[in-house]
Amino acid sequence: MDVTEAQEDFVASTMYSLAEAKIFTENQPFAIYDEEQMVGFIMYSLDPDDNQYWVTRLLIDEKFQQKGYCSLAMKNILKLIKNEFNPKCVYTSFEPENKVAEKLYLKLGFLHTGRIIDDDELVLEYIY
Ligand SMILES: CC(C)(COP(=O)(O)OP(=O)(O)OC[C@H]1O[C@@H](n2cnc3c(N)ncnc32)[C@H](O)[C@@H]1OP(=O)(O)O)[C@@H](O)C(=O)NCCC(=O)NCCS
Repeated sequence: MDVTEAQEDFVASTMYSLAEAKIFTENQPFAIYDEEQMVGFIMYSLDPDDNQYWVTRLLIDEKFQQKGYCSLAMKNILKLIKNEFNPKCVYTSFEPENKVAEKLYLKLGFLHTGRIIDDDELVLEYIY
């Protein structure tokens, strides 16, 4: 699963994320499929520090972008987290330059929190 060169600063590689999930088992990684075709990668985590659910990784392979997969995958993971754990909210974060991700997440119902993590990432909250 590859993103464009310009997008590489916005997201860790899938290989890195899978290694992270293997070591830190609070991470739950998923491949995103359309029928038999793998189109992307998504991961959520129950953060042991704040005890909140976070969508920590989301990417759609460059060949399959702008076909609606990200929106669908995010909606599905929000449903999955709700059904399994029924939290009040879910968090995610993005690089401030990543205007595509920001617009997309806001359209899905995420709200700005004003919080910044990892030096510069803006935190969004989805309230069920
Ligand atoms: C951000 C990303 C996940 C979006 O995936 P996607 O499957 O292309 O998104 P969708 O097809 O669901 O598009 C949703 C909306 O974003 C818009 N969009 C997606 N890519 C876009 C682009 N490159 N330029 C402009 N608009 C774009 C779509 O037009 C659509 O808008 P609409 O709802 O108004 O019609 C994908 O670009 C990606 O993997 N980027 C690199 C990794 C990354 O940034 N991940 C997020 C980290 S926080």
